[in-house]
Amino acid sequence: MAKVTIVGAGNVGASAAHILASKNLADIVLIDVAEGLPQGKALDLMHLRSIENFTTSIVGTNDYALTADSDVVVITAGIARKPGMTREDLLEVNASIMSSVIKEALIASPDALYICVTNPLDVMTYLAYKKSKLPPNRLMGMGGVLDSARFSFAICEKLGCKPEDVEAWALGAHGEGMVCWPRHTTVAGKPLPELLSEQEIAEVVLRTVQGGAEVVAHLKTGSAYYAPGAAIAQMVEVILTDSGKTMSVCAYIDGQYGIHDLYMNVPVRLGKNGVEEIVEFDLNEKELSDLHISAEHVARGIAGIV
Ligand code: NAI
Ligand code: 2OP
Repeated sequence: MAKVTIVGAGNVGASAAHILASKNLADIVLIDVAEGLPQGKALDLMHLRSIENFTTSIVGTNDYALTADSDVVVITAGIARKPGMTREDLLEVNASIMSSVIKEALIASPDALYICVTNPLDVMTYLAYKKSKLPPNRLMGMGGVLDSARFSFAICEKLGCKPEDVEAWALGAHGEGMVCWPRHTTVAGKPLPELLSEQEIAEVVLRTVQGGAEVVAHLKTGSAYYAPGAAIAQMVEVILTDSGKTMSVCAYIDGQYGIHDLYMNVPVRLGKNGVEEIVEFDLNEKELSDLHISAEHVARGIAGIV
């Protein structure tokens, strides 16, 4: 059985643990600095095994010794947004948390694949890359799967179509600089511009970009966690089953799309080695220029920490 460690047993970490556990693919270790929190959530999740019929184990701990030799380590440790905060407002506190977590996790699991989730995502993933010196295929971030799921939701709301018919692409920075690719987004095989007017596309794109903030405005005490948890679980599943699915993943880019030395969401073929390939879509001038603007946004964030 594979072993997956989730660092941070807060809302996102616990939600990811639940959804991943129900896939019956890996034993899970939940680790957090808060005493009792990972242990309590792990026990609560173990109590639902007979209801959901999974056999994998979930253990909670404050000690990295129990995370040893994980196949995948997911890092969700850090503070989350409150109303009025952008993801960038989290930078200083989360940079310090990310630096210590990646160091400790690597000592215990030197051969694992790493998925960063902590915000601001693109900057934190780059920081983890610099601190860990891991080969870029083994370190990635989760943001684009969530953003693409939100794009899919906004399209379904507008068209009344089924989620399974939508293949949606949201990429670039996981934040205000996000870009959507309507021309490459399809509903039952048809490109979005054949189904929606320019104005309608602008509306669904705006709803996508503001999706995280829309949740925060309702919750008032934190940010989204069910969809992020599901997005993490899907990425882990694709890796552990070596499915080779191409999805929007925060990956190290150095040359692809003419962008250099940063992490942001691009189409990635994901498999047992992590980032197997960055897939270069055929972009028109406007799409490429939007992606470059998004990359500049990320580069400014990175300049603030390294
Ligand atoms: P949360 O506050 O519910 O949980 C965070 C957990 O991290 C807490 O339990 C805390 O004790 C723990 N923690 C703090 N420092 C730690 C350390 N050094 N080692 C281990 N654990 C530590 O927050 P939530 O909602 O789970 O969000 C977690 C992070 O994920 C936030 O930065 C949030 O912005 C980000 N996020 C990213 C998304 C993405 O798409 N990339 C989506 C949703 C959230
Ligand atoms: C989200 O997109 C806050 O990054 C988090 O919901």
